[in-house]
Amino acid sequence: MDNPLIIANWKMKLAPSEAHVLAKKVAKSSAKFTGAEVVVCPSFTELAAVAGIMEGSGVTVGAQNCFWEEQGAFTGEVSASQLAAHGVGTVIVGHSERRAHLGESSDMVHRKIRMLLSVGLRPVLCVGESFDDRAEGQKEVVLLRQLHDALGGLWLTDAQQLVVAYEPVWVIGSGQDVDPKEIEHTHQVIEQSLYDLFSREAVDEHVKIIYGGSVDPENVGRYVAEPSVDGVLVGTASLDATQFAAIVAGALKA
Ligand code: PGA
Repeated sequence: MDNPLIIANWKMKLAPSEAHVLAKKVAKSSAKFTGAEVVVCPSFTELAAVAGIMEGSGVTVGAQNCFWEEQGAFTGEVSASQLAAHGVGTVIVGHSERRAHLGESSDMVHRKIRMLLSVGLRPVLCVGESFDDRAEGQKEVVLLRQLHDALGGLWLTDAQQLVVAYEPVWVIGSGQDVDPKEIEHTHQVIEQSLYDLFSREAVDEHVKIIYGGSVDPENVGRYVAEPSVDGVLVGTASLDATQFAAIVAGALKA
């Protein structure tokens, strides 16, 4: 496997001062991150400060969202190039919380990904089934639809990178472990679908598939040890610098 990719999603959980303290602790641990790619995603308001704190640490800064137009009368929105100007290289798109609470549709997700790719940023497309989808045997149908809606009609040029984060919605924030074999199987289904959308070569060279949902220091090693799991997207456990460093260590050991 390439270097595992570990993305911290701080959501809207930290006051500015808390984000700065956490960023300093993460930067301090970063000497132990060699061999992993670590990205932290604070709120928009903290991007510049956290990017400054991370300078020289090897940890990069990502955003939790962006808008799909380049510029214009879009009150309250933030463009991909504004993010790039703050040193952001990676942007989470279509997180289930945005799909649920902000009405983020597949079409919006698609447009955001197209914009991000066009300005050379790396989208992290989140896909995942709900508890009911899974109970009704619809998990794969839902995932394939989300992938096709988000990525259909796009292609990846040499300089472009894409991350797909498989996050079962029923696991996010639940503290639940998932059988690593089930995760591996799902990642293989996602990979196959990506092969159909792009080429096998493009996927192998430009796409990573990571797992998210209650990832912690204890389960990360089992997840990342699976061959199709290229890394993890971490919410709750990324808010504690010690736990987060233990997650990076666990992923490196796997
Ligand atoms: P969690 O969140 O680690 O708290 O489950 C993951 C996410 O929502 O990206």
